Amino acid sequence: MPNDSRPAVLELIGNTPLVRVSRFDTGPCTLFLKLESQNPGGSIKDRIGLAMIDAAERDGSLKPGGTIVEATAGNTGLGLALVGRAKGYRVVLVVPDKMSTEKVLHLKAMGAEVHITRSDVGKGHPDYYQDVAARLALEIPDAFFADQFNNPANPLAHECSTAPEIWAQTQHDVDAIVVGVGSAGTLTGLTRFFKRVQPDLAMVLADPVGSVMAEYSRSGTMTTPGSWAVEGIGEDFIPSIADLSSVRHAYSISDEESFDHARQLLRAEGILGGSSTGTLLAAALRYCREQTEPKRVVSFVCDTGTRYLSKVYNDQWMNDQGLLARKPYGDLRDVIARRFEDGRVISVSPDDTLLTAFQRMRLADVSQLPVLSDGRQLVGVIDESDILLGMQADPSHFRLTVASAMTDKVETLPASASLAELQVELDRGLVAIIADASGFHGLITRVDLLNHLRRSLA
Ligand SMILES: Cc1ncc(COP(=O)(O)O)c(C=O)c1O
Repeated sequence: MPNDSRPAVLELIGNTPLVRVSRFDTGPCTLFLKLESQNPGGSIKDRIGLAMIDAAERDGSLKPGGTIVEATAGNTGLGLALVGRAKGYRVVLVVPDKMSTEKVLHLKAMGAEVHITRSDVGKGHPDYYQDVAARLALEIPDAFFADQFNNPANPLAHECSTAPEIWAQTQHDVDAIVVGVGSAGTLTGLTRFFKRVQPDLAMVLADPVGSVMAEYSRSGTMTTPGSWAVEGIGEDFIPSIADLSSVRHAYSISDEESFDHARQLLRAEGILGGSSTGTLLAAALRYCREQTEPKRVVSFVCDTGTRYLSKVYNDQWMNDQGLLARKPYGDLRDVIARRFEDGRVISVSPDDTLLTAFQRMRLADVSQLPVLSDGRQLVGVIDESDILLGMQADPSHFRLTVASAMTDKVETLPASASLAELQVELDRGLVAIIADASGFHGLITRVDLLNHLRRSLA
């Protein structure tokens, strides 16, 4: 069996395709997207994973048997894990807790060790992910701290690969590039390359609302950072490697707009990008539509949307976060996560088996289900303890009907009841059942109420 020292898959990093956006209004401009999602690790960060490891091997900071340590929103970790594990290194990653489960599972599946830290603390806090990684790098023997935020191999990777690819793919005809800033490696690398070959090229920042980058690039003012749900871009400080000298415009894009644009991109163009792709697309479309002359504009699909299926592309999660527009009723129906009115209730019928009820609960990740006859008439509620009762003695209970195990004397609250009445109901048991003369509306759990209260905070 061949065992090359350099795994062949690494040859697939870079040289990603450039595709024209054909189904959106781009004003007088032509907009292209560079599909970084097609790198083998699924993101633009494969480029720097490879470049930082190659550079560290060359300068001796990473030796055989060594450990690669990094602070990462996930994608850099995937790039480092892809390259590092294939080359036989231990890979230790520090990831903030807002990152999607898919990324963490992917990292672990690749054999990386993942430390989850808080995403609600900033630079200087002992739990801040970059500070935790720096500490681990000091503690672990033979550790190489990749440190994308300060590592010159990061912008260099973009200067030497991403930028010349764009230059060649646009036949040396490009007016603006729309980028997001995480470590600023992409921005700085592109800026350096295009200053040499096309000094008039405008860099356009796509920044999440809450990040300090957009305002700093416009006025040099540091604003108080907020929080945002988009992953991989936006900063609460200015990365030391950031070169903002070619930035001509900066757009602050809300989470709602970002997520909506990622979803639109999939529906309209069939391109499955991550949450930041939505930010970049929204900013790129704004820039294109504001132009009065035709321009050729490039932006990125920085990572694949498959790692956001449980978030951006999950209506229930979007709803819980308040990121999907829903009809407001001004009563308790606004608290229900899965509203009957919206056709989103997960239910069982009294004739279903307990096995069906159990499987449906697992699939929807809920602990109870309304029991509806004819798909609309509330006749009971069934929860995990109803199913479990009698099961230990005889697992064939799974074949019994829901009707035989459900609670049929249900107390309901009308949609017009107050939050205080809801609270009393929740204090008494697991779930409140909202139904009145107009019919069954849905269930409300404590988590639903907490999500509702958090949404009203925003
Ligand atoms: C998911 C994601 N990661 C990283 C980047 C760029 O990051 P950096 O500034 O670290 O090069 C982007 C840019 O849009 C991105 O969308």
